[in-house]
Amino acid sequence: MTESVVRRIRELIAEIRQHDYHYHALDAPTIGDTQYDQLVAELKRLETEFPDCLDPNSPTQRVGAKPDSGFSEVSHRIPMLSLDNVFDLDEFQQFVERMTDRLDGISSPELTAEPKLDGLALSIRYEQGELILAATRGDGSTGENVTQNVRTIRSIPLTLNGEHLPEILEVRGEVIMKKEDFDSMNRRLQAAGEKTFVNPRNAAAGSLRQLDPAIVATRPLSFYAYGVGEVSASLGDRHSDVMDTLKSLGIPVNPGLVKGDVSSMEAAYQELLAKRDSLPYEIDGMVVKVDPLALQNALGFVARAPRFATAWKFPAQEAATDLIAIDVQVGRTGAITPVARLEPVFVGGVTVSNATLHNFDEVSRLDVRPGDRVMVRRAGDVIPQIVRVMTDQRPTNSQAVPLPTECPICSSPVERAAGEAVIRCSGGLICQAQRLEHLKHFVSRKAMDIDGVGERLLEILIEKQWVKTPADLYRLSIESLKDLDRMGEKSAANVVQAIAASKATTLARFLYALGIRDVGEATARTLAQTFGDLQPLMLASLEDLMAVDDVGPIVASHIRAFFEVQQNREVIEELRNLGVYWPIHPVEAPTTGVDLSGQTWVLTGTLESMTRDEASDRLRALGAKVSGSVSAKTTVLVAGPGAGSKLSKAQDLGVRVMDEAALMELLES
Ligand code: IVH
Repeated sequence: MTESVVRRIRELIAEIRQHDYHYHALDAPTIGDTQYDQLVAELKRLETEFPDCLDPNSPTQRVGAKPDSGFSEVSHRIPMLSLDNVFDLDEFQQFVERMTDRLDGISSPELTAEPKLDGLALSIRYEQGELILAATRGDGSTGENVTQNVRTIRSIPLTLNGEHLPEILEVRGEVIMKKEDFDSMNRRLQAAGEKTFVNPRNAAAGSLRQLDPAIVATRPLSFYAYGVGEVSASLGDRHSDVMDTLKSLGIPVNPGLVKGDVSSMEAAYQELLAKRDSLPYEIDGMVVKVDPLALQNALGFVARAPRFATAWKFPAQEAATDLIAIDVQVGRTGAITPVARLEPVFVGGVTVSNATLHNFDEVSRLDVRPGDRVMVRRAGDVIPQIVRVMTDQRPTNSQAVPLPTECPICSSPVERAAGEAVIRCSGGLICQAQRLEHLKHFVSRKAMDIDGVGERLLEILIEKQWVKTPADLYRLSIESLKDLDRMGEKSAANVVQAIAASKATTLARFLYALGIRDVGEATARTLAQTFGDLQPLMLASLEDLMAVDDVGPIVASHIRAFFEVQQNREVIEELRNLGVYWPIHPVEAPTTGVDLSGQTWVLTGTLESMTRDEASDRLRALGAKVSGSVSAKTTVLVAGPGAGSKLSKAQDLGVRVMDEAALMELLES
């Protein structure tokens, strides 16, 4: 009995170790998480049932050691050194010169370049392949014994892989927290009302130096090796070979090592810098090392850093500066956002004088006020952000910024939808900040469908102040338009003609074109069908609106708010006076003898006598619902030339199929 248990436990341990190796060292897991968890669960069960068979280095033993009262000291037999830094090509070349001056006859040594991981240094000692000690760098010669904590890091093997293991092997590398792990951990800590960490490096350092290994076990730490300390046997003649050997032993090594010579290092630097933000962990530079160990030994060390390696640093992504003011901006969709005006500061490679604060919740969360000293972060092309406020340096007379009640551009009241963090201007059609977006929407195909008035023309018309509201479009003349850049008489006439043609529309299109928040095409259609004309809709109460299918309290309140703004009502009035009209449908009686209510129609392929949108409008006018996909509920599929999968699906389902001629006949009956 026990014999078979021992065998099974050994099997499970070997299998789990193998999976850990694939997952953490090779980045190529061979089973799914659930399957992995099942193996671990089986192992735990056997170990609990047969405690005598417990192997102290079993993968289940990563958590559980008692909290330490503090860390004991560990002296490093081989010191853990630091690196000198260079900040540009010039300084890098000086580093190379200093090095080659000492290497008689070798002007271009073979080099390696690898990411400089932004975490904290760790030394892990294996004896006979078993992890026996892990220590922080400390002052380089004495560090802290963090073995219990390190045993909880899943990517660090407790036992090495392989046959001929060196008796002693000290692995040196960086403990880090991946960006994603950092974000989810901080979310978790925040939800639990606990203190969050400011960045992944602090999170890694703070977690590793936690006194309770059970807590450390909940912190998603990772480790990558970049070198070795004491070793009892050679692992290779080059740094790159040593890294390969470590990898084969099951140790995750710093990914992204490239080999090259002096002349290729600048390109390697630029390449890594370009990749920086897409990497799953934070890096703060590129480490260049001489590859052959014989040359490393010949070069030796100065003070606390090797002569054979240097850190070519990236521009810092965080910097402190003063916040001068918090301004309020209105975006193109009416979102009102606070913007931080900063004392200019060089960060992430550029000078930054503005940072986004996203919304007013963020302002309260950060408790940021004018006059504060703040930490600004600019990563890659991302808009600079304020990541924290140094509240201890806050001036005594500082004042929090109040939440705006009206739009700074058009003075319309601001509104905040339930569950949304942003506040918005309710000015809709009249707010200058929202003009372009509104007009683009107004002319778009499913709205007023004004062909020939594109974004560029709208920009010009807005800039010239010829068009402030949609009504102004209907006042444009060929005379004024023809003198615009790249326009001419003919195009101007086409534009005016297209605008005039849009006057004959439908109520649904017009409602959609108004750009009322959350009133999309479908809602606009339902509203048009329900109210028949604009006037009753404008007079409808919240209750009336909420009685409409698909209209809930939020949409109803947006509709009410829109029509309550006097300028919106004025623009509508002007549009009607300028000739925009739609057929009025008495709410009860259908307009023709054909009643398609309760039917679902689908259109596919090309139609010749009208567009699919027009055909859809006409079918809806007869009460049909027009859908984009065929299902068993489809009543009729209208198939024009070029119909494909929808047609075959309709045939499979036995749905009635009609061609364009039959459709026309029905519409005209
Ligand atoms: S080599 C003897 N390689 O940077 C040279 N260090 O600023 C030992 N670091 O203490 C360091 N990534 O904690 C090396 N690829 C890398 C590194 C790296 C990050 C850290 C390491 C070191 C610090 C020096």
